[in-house]
Amino acid sequence: MIFMIPSAGFCANSKGKRGADLRGLWTEASIDKVLPITRSPIGDTMSEFVRVASTEDIPAGQARMVEVNGKEIAIFNVGGSFHAIDNTCTHVGGPLCEGEIEGPEVTCPWHGAVFDVTSGDVLGPPAFERLSRYNVRVEGSDIEIEV
Ligand code: FES
Repeated sequence: MIFMIPSAGFCANSKGKRGADLRGLWTEASIDKVLPITRSPIGDTMSEFVRVASTEDIPAGQARMVEVNGKEIAIFNVGGSFHAIDNTCTHVGGPLCEGEIEGPEVTCPWHGAVFDVTSGDVLGPPAFERLSRYNVRVEGSDIEIEV
């Protein structure tokens, strides 16, 4: 089943809180209401593109977390280009959608690991394992990710 966290679960940047412990904030965001979203299968049977948000929902330099098939995925707007990676930091699970975003880099709000949102690659410790990356396409104002 597919769910999307509503606007109340929007993950704003935590500018100035690099490395801060924001676990309490994350808990509040993640237990907010979860709404089902319309599934719009496109493509073959191995994978499909699913609408997860509108381009208007994620301004440049911001991120939003969506939940698709039980996976928490962070969608980033980097200068008008949208990118999707796992929302859960590979160190000990920090919520990357709440991290500080600088260009294509996001800093985990818990301990400061840095990731490239366009590839999922680790750019700085303490995380060492890359994140899964998802293909993204924009159809009109719909942001769709391949899952
Ligand atoms: S949980 Fe992300 S750096 Fe520790």
